[in-house]
Amino acid sequence: MYDIPFLDLPPLRRAAGTVRLPGSKSISNRVLLLAGLAEGSTTLHDLLDSDDTAVMLDALRRLGCTAEPLGDCAWRIGGIGGRLAVHEAELFLGNAGTAMRPLAAALALLAATQGGSFTLRGVARMHERPIGDLVDALRGLGCAVDDLGCSGFPPLRVRGEAGGRLRLDQPVRVRGDVSSQFLSALLLALPLADAAHDLHVEVTGELISKPYVAITLKLLARFGIAVARDDGWRRFTLPAGSRYRSPGTLHVEGDASSASYFVALGAIAAQPDAPLRIEGVGHDSIQGDIAFVDAARAMGAAVRSGPNWLEVARGAWPLRALQLDCNAIPDAAMTLAMMALYADAPTRLANIGSWRVKETDRIDAMATELRKLGATVQAGADFIEVEPPAAWRAAAIATYDDHRMAMCASLAALNPLARRGSGGAQPGVPVRILDPRCVAKTFPDYFETLFGVAGADAGDVPVITVDGPTASGKGTLAAALAARLGYRLLDSGALYRATALAALRDGVAADDEAALARLAAGLALRFDGASVTLGGDEVGDALRSEDVGLLASRISALPAVRAALHGLQLGFRSVPGLVADGRDMGTVVFPDAALKVFLTAGAEQRAMRRHKQLISKGIDANIDSLRADLEARDARDRNRAVAPLRAAEDALSLDNSALTVDESVEVVLGWWAQRRPFG
Ligand code: DC
Repeated sequence: MYDIPFLDLPPLRRAAGTVRLPGSKSISNRVLLLAGLAEGSTTLHDLLDSDDTAVMLDALRRLGCTAEPLGDCAWRIGGIGGRLAVHEAELFLGNAGTAMRPLAAALALLAATQGGSFTLRGVARMHERPIGDLVDALRGLGCAVDDLGCSGFPPLRVRGEAGGRLRLDQPVRVRGDVSSQFLSALLLALPLADAAHDLHVEVTGELISKPYVAITLKLLARFGIAVARDDGWRRFTLPAGSRYRSPGTLHVEGDASSASYFVALGAIAAQPDAPLRIEGVGHDSIQGDIAFVDAARAMGAAVRSGPNWLEVARGAWPLRALQLDCNAIPDAAMTLAMMALYADAPTRLANIGSWRVKETDRIDAMATELRKLGATVQAGADFIEVEPPAAWRAAAIATYDDHRMAMCASLAALNPLARRGSGGAQPGVPVRILDPRCVAKTFPDYFETLFGVAGADAGDVPVITVDGPTASGKGTLAAALAARLGYRLLDSGALYRATALAALRDGVAADDEAALARLAAGLALRFDGASVTLGGDEVGDALRSEDVGLLASRISALPAVRAALHGLQLGFRSVPGLVADGRDMGTVVFPDAALKVFLTAGAEQRAMRRHKQLISKGIDANIDSLRADLEARDARDRNRAVAPLRAAEDALSLDNSALTVDESVEVVLGWWAQRRPFG
């Protein structure tokens, strides 16, 4: 997960490989609630691990359910069997509509008959998302619901006395034209009413987002409740004696809305002979957003599918513009708005009024952000029309704490593939995504997943180099920059050190250039977060040892060793970007780097830092000899014939003798900001 202020995507040009989707948000939160209300235990597999499911799990625990992680996205939920285990609770539900609405309904019904008082709150935006139609229906049933903020919006309190009665003789009426979640919430909760006769629910107004109600009905059926649907989508009947029965075990499908970004990616950037494979949903999906695939096909995507997989490649190109009623696929329709940027004419998405009451006002948000990219956008109460940019602009895309805005924005990075006028492929512009962390609502690893299948031309992948002498703090600075920017990190010294370590282990002489080069070329070195392994052994500490450092300094003067490590270093340059530290990153390995930093500090200062480092590790050291050693190493690095240590001509020098790490990072980020096209 990228918990950073912004993430810059370089222009992307291709996609291939396989993605495994996280679990469906809609299914995960519904089955969590059903398992929590049912009697006994239910094992849920492939559950989504995200902000929205975290708030649901937390709420269930507060209500006395048990929730036990079994690893690998499996959970065992112990339910309350329709009997309140806790009669008072304060629930915080973030911005999860799929938690707020059904929990409000379920707790209102339970409190009305068993007694209790429950407060339901969320983030500020949750308090702007309507719930009044559901509250009206619940009051009609005889439930006590208090508005704690504005009438018709969370926060709410639901309460009641033990022995209270519900009014079940009349059909329950609920409006369906603002959010289908009100109806879903009632259907999920009504089995708690324990009615002696059939219960009827009647929808007033045209029901929107019907496929989500279909998911609710299918999942209720899995929990033993067969709701009949009559008169189209207007009337629902819950048979007398309906009671949740746990299915024991249940597998959650991959998220079809999350699939839409990869369907779009494949349609824009995957070659027909190497389609992008998406695992977790397919044509057997119970999720309405699977219908997005038909819309994508209409725009030109070439899609093959199986029961739980899709393979997508470019079909028609440019994409074909679309005029579509998107009422049934409101979430995935946002992805169509992005595909519209690659179409041959304006695309109009109609009947999307519900966008205005989602995580943000998505019609306004989408129009504003697409215009930043250069698109011409018309927007109305319930439609959006998108005309592709004549000239793309590098833009910093705001995401409004809306996961789908962030995931959609990533598709703009494919802009070099867009056709402009009669021209072909274009140079491309980067795309900045503000607050990328918001994808955690439904897809915490979205960007990592994207970077696993999307490719850029090496020249488009930005590189920041940090060169400088031993113990100048390059490694610390480079790691901090990489973390702040979400970029990859190359500690090139580690490659020389690993070669030295391998030589010491294999007994290769320090002057056997050919044998050392062979070792360097065949290094089985892996970097994984803080861990570094060589041939499977953890070597993080061994690489930092003084004897390894000394040998590294000697063998790094050998041209064949440097040549052997060159290609390995170039391979680190991949999406979204790279920070590389060493001695010749800016001069030899990445001469086209977008920013080159040459870091220095006085020898005295560096010796003191190294001394502190060694002492903190419990290693005895003497400042004078450390200083002499540093200076000898500097001299060797500076005077060697190949790739000597020196600042690149276009490098910016930074003497960090008097700076803290954070201050150095801020200086370099300031330089970086000036070189980026985002203003
Ligand atoms: O940065 P470091 O101390 O981990 O580097 C170990 C040795 O490798 C150092 O003495 C010089 C050499 N080196 C190099 O020649 N070129 C690089 N790009 C990185 C390190």
